[in-house]
Amino acid sequence: MKANGKRVVSRLEEIYQCGKKEDGTFTRMAFSPEDVKGRKLFASWAQKLGMTCRIDEAGNLICRMAGQDDSLPAILMGSHLDTVPDGGKYDGVLGCVGGLEVCETFKEEGYVPKHPIEVIVFTDEEGFRFGKGLTGSSGICGQNPEVSDSELDIYGEERGKVMQSYGITSANMLKAAKDPESVHCFIELHVEQGARLYKTHTSVGVVSSIAGVNRYDVTVTGEANHAGSTAMADRKDALVAAAGFINNIPEVTTEYGNEFTVATVGTIKVTPHSVNVIPGTCTFSLEIRDQDAKVMTLIEQKLQASLGDICKKYGVSYTFVPTSFHEPAPMSKWVKGSIEQAVKELGIDYSVIPSGAFHDSLIMTSVFPTGMIFVPSEKGISHSRYEFTEDGDIENGCNVLLKTVLNVDNM
Ligand code: GLV
Ligand code: MN
Ligand code: MN
Ligand code: MN
Repeated sequence: MKANGKRVVSRLEEIYQCGKKEDGTFTRMAFSPEDVKGRKLFASWAQKLGMTCRIDEAGNLICRMAGQDDSLPAILMGSHLDTVPDGGKYDGVLGCVGGLEVCETFKEEGYVPKHPIEVIVFTDEEGFRFGKGLTGSSGICGQNPEVSDSELDIYGEERGKVMQSYGITSANMLKAAKDPESVHCFIELHVEQGARLYKTHTSVGVVSSIAGVNRYDVTVTGEANHAGSTAMADRKDALVAAAGFINNIPEVTTEYGNEFTVATVGTIKVTPHSVNVIPGTCTFSLEIRDQDAKVMTLIEQKLQASLGDICKKYGVSYTFVPTSFHEPAPMSKWVKGSIEQAVKELGIDYSVIPSGAFHDSLIMTSVFPTGMIFVPSEKGISHSRYEFTEDGDIENGCNVLLKTVLNVDNM
């Protein structure tokens, strides 16, 4: 039994077109008309296969294929269709379309799996709109993503209202929780989004674990004053202090971390935000990721110490507020083993690698046996319109997914 790579590539392209915006970018922001369009197209493909489609209380689109014994725990596949701004064609979409391809191949071959199968399009994985992602997978795992309904997006729209227009309320979300007994395992196919496979010319990655992610809101408070008449020596410039801190991040991370340790300031705002006023406050996000929770704590301590020293030097103050924590998440031993067995049976070259990016699997693995399959991202580029994966790698990934499902169906 073999997956049809051409069909997968053509569907990736069709979903990509659902993100087409007037400004020439391809963005399928969560809860946007483009996102809805992509999901409807996806559901139409699943329905043609005779799968039943429903949307759960967390907005996840769940497409189900009956098993020989439909009371057995389901084999779950899937990922997300939402993208970052001006995102790529593969991130998330491959896991959804690949899952569907497994079901379509089964149907064509007349193979009825013992277990029921569900392909899930998770809600709002990226989270760039309201600052926190993994919304749908959190719901399925019975965890609240802890984002306030009053959070505003870049258009000033309130999260609660946006979610409601999509049929989701924070109060109802946890009703999407799946009974762990009803799930055999979850398998997510994804592009690597890093350059390990690409640099080593390796076809497939079997994911060992997903990096933990800790996020913080940092505010540096100085003194807003006249940009023309305040001498350099008399300033308490919040942005200059923040810039000094940000500049130190690579050094601190390299000194106390390892090859997987990363820290990023991805958003920054100053007040009063005027060309002729010294910034009185500077607020920015800080994110730390690593495969080891102890390293993440150490980096947090060292970065906070560095921030304290720099603020002292410039006579400004700061607050450092943790906003979210996700521990590093190892994949399930037996699902990972089934993936490795599948790759070996197919005779495809592979390596076992960690994931620096997070995925719905980060949450799913806390409740259900979970495994991930990676295929190479050209030059390691992702979250970009230049994201690219070779057709042959896509086909390999789908075949590994297919073979893994066949393996776990017999377990
Ligand atoms: C999401 O893809 C992330 O890793 O930030
Ligand atoms: Mn993704
Ligand atoms: Mn992404
Ligand atoms: Mn992701």
